[in-house]
Amino acid sequence: MQEKIAQLEKEIESFDGSTEEEVEAFRIKFLGRKGIVKDLYAEFKTVPNEQKREVGQKLNALKQQIQQKIEERKAAFESSEGSGVKTEDLTRPSGMEGLGSRHPISLVRREILDIFSRIGFTVAEGPEIEDDWHVFSGLNFPPEHPARDMQDTFFVDRDPDMLLRTHTSSVQARMMEKTKPPLRIVMPGRVFRNEAISARAHCIFHQIEGLYIDKDVSFADMKQTLLYFAKEFFGDKTEIRLRPSYFPFTEPSAEMDVYWGLENEIDYRITKGTGWLEIMGCGMVDPNVLELSGIDSKEYSGFAFGMGIERIAMQRFQVDDLRHFFENDVRFLKQFSSAF
Ligand code: PHE
Repeated sequence: MQEKIAQLEKEIESFDGSTEEEVEAFRIKFLGRKGIVKDLYAEFKTVPNEQKREVGQKLNALKQQIQQKIEERKAAFESSEGSGVKTEDLTRPSGMEGLGSRHPISLVRREILDIFSRIGFTVAEGPEIEDDWHVFSGLNFPPEHPARDMQDTFFVDRDPDMLLRTHTSSVQARMMEKTKPPLRIVMPGRVFRNEAISARAHCIFHQIEGLYIDKDVSFADMKQTLLYFAKEFFGDKTEIRLRPSYFPFTEPSAEMDVYWGLENEIDYRITKGTGWLEIMGCGMVDPNVLELSGIDSKEYSGFAFGMGIERIAMQRFQVDDLRHFFENDVRFLKQFSSAF
């Protein structure tokens, strides 16, 4: 029995389990109900009386050795994995943060600006809270002009001259004032109109305006530029048409439609049964507007166009309700995380 104990001492001494499971298995093996120590105590009863004292001491020492070993190994793995250390290990890789995605309006805005930048247009921006001059009067909407009613306006209480811009054409007015032609700019921005909110209208939306002023700019230049845009954005086979329209700051004015198709029920709904999708307003800058901004209309001519980003995004991503763009429900926004 003494020999057995000596052997076990060596085994215990060399145990270096470092996980909780290993240490627990070790404990059960030696101290468990059917463990080695229990057997040794059973065997102890058979030891001759004159050896009992010596063997008994060795047995107790062995038991202590086992308990010490368990404490020692536990301390070892607790200090490397213990909770205190976990939070203080600054080299540990952090948990994955949910990655955001671009808003569909930003995606479409970026694509449109990219297309125009390839043919030399630069980007300009202006204020959302504007004065009457840059939104209306300077663009040939004199006070009391009925065309003002087309853009139901939010005015600022304290100052009747201040308002939330109803279109990005205000940036056009500002840029003509401060820059000498030639001008070739696109102007994205948020605009505001007092509209009843529905699936197709909102009191806040986004536009991109374009302006090109130089010597001898013609209607043909405008049509070619807009056809280039339509082909780049909607595909090479895209056809466009220009329908006569009216804006106070352009003359002649037009609405540009893109041929969408009329094959199924959705096409019918999107194009209101015509097959054509209305994309933007455009026209030759009215000479009056050039003069109001200090540009000589005998020397220079130009064209302007303006489009609503929401409408184009609805068409591009097949979104059936414009309000989705403003509610910022992550279940909606997540769907665009791989758009481009
Ligand atoms: N500003 C016009 C609108 O918001 C759009 C437009 C811009 C039309 C430029 C012609 C030229 O309705």
